[in-house]
Amino acid sequence: MNELRIGVIGTGGIGRDHIRRITHVITGAKVVAVSDINKRVAKEVAQQYDAKFYDSGEELIASPEVDAVVVTSSDQTHAKYVLACIAAGKYVLCEKPLASTAKDCLEIVKAETAYGKRLVQVGFMRRFDRGYQALKEVIKSGKIGAPLLIHACHRNRSHIPEFTSDMVIVTSGIHEIDISRWLLDEDYESGQVLTGKQNRNSKAGLIDPQIMLLKTKSGVLIDVEVNLCSGYGYDIQCEVVGEKGTVRLPDPNTVLVRSEGQHSYEIYSEWSERFIEAYDIEFQQWVNAVKKDAVDGPSAWDGYSACIAADALIKSRNNSIVEPIITAERPQLYK
Ligand code: NAI
Repeated sequence: MNELRIGVIGTGGIGRDHIRRITHVITGAKVVAVSDINKRVAKEVAQQYDAKFYDSGEELIASPEVDAVVVTSSDQTHAKYVLACIAAGKYVLCEKPLASTAKDCLEIVKAETAYGKRLVQVGFMRRFDRGYQALKEVIKSGKIGAPLLIHACHRNRSHIPEFTSDMVIVTSGIHEIDISRWLLDEDYESGQVLTGKQNRNSKAGLIDPQIMLLKTKSGVLIDVEVNLCSGYGYDIQCEVVGEKGTVRLPDPNTVLVRSEGQHSYEIYSEWSERFIEAYDIEFQQWVNAVKKDAVDGPSAWDGYSACIAADALIKSRNNSIVEPIITAERPQLYK
């Protein structure tokens, strides 16, 4: 196949960043089509990148000029577009979360299973981050012994006005839900959310910060601070505690400055800078895999598994109890 012809649905913040990435950073693909309910912006993007504007995501998916689709529209619109891609037999890279509820994710899993081949990849880009990959290698090597605990934190500098208390978990915390499951290579048994004193700089009524507590089937405990209004930067931390040692996610590579009686390095303010290399690798590998007809990145099942944990965490927060996390039976396609 020559250049993979990609259609992008959603020309907001990350949609435009991925269009830039496909056009200027990775090889083997080009953006030929865009769509967004904000037609003015989508038309501007279409013109800037010499792509065709489509009135609707459905028309873009159906177009014979589009080989594969990237879904970067708002969370609640993901499921319908991913289902339409499966119905059309087209590969789709859908930003996380795969859908806003586990029920919708399961519908996607069922549709893909019925189709009989993996078409869906979920945008859990942290799995492509060199730091997380090194962390996983250390765990696998046995150097720190069997993992017992993960301490993690997800701090944004500030949040967009549209954020809700549930999105703290299903839109932000979902990254830690997925990456911890991937690092440990096991599923969750239960989840709980703790809330306490609220940040006065967050939007009124938004529960922020929230502490997510997860327990895996073998009993590993994971605590995650999800804090959308840290006030100082986008700061992602993860430490795995094993029976014989610990391993910690490195901060991104930046120079260490010694001056004025201090040593310091920059903390990024945006996710797009912190994980820029991970997104680039994610897209290059996805394009290569689509061209070989063998997509193997984070699957619809991974998207479902993360969402079922997120659903349980939200329920736990609303009812102040520990919620069991009960997953459907994993279809053969994802074994
Ligand atoms: P955004 O609000 O900047 O962009 C969303 C776009 O979707 C807007 O242009 C909006 O007009 C469009 N849209 C809404 N409904 C639509 C529909 N029915 N059809 C077509 N377009 C529609 O949001 P942002 O930050 O770009 O996020 C987009 C998605 O990417 C979200 O699902 C978000 O969770 C995910 N995301 C993932 C990140 C990651 O780290 N992997 C980082 C940031 C966002």
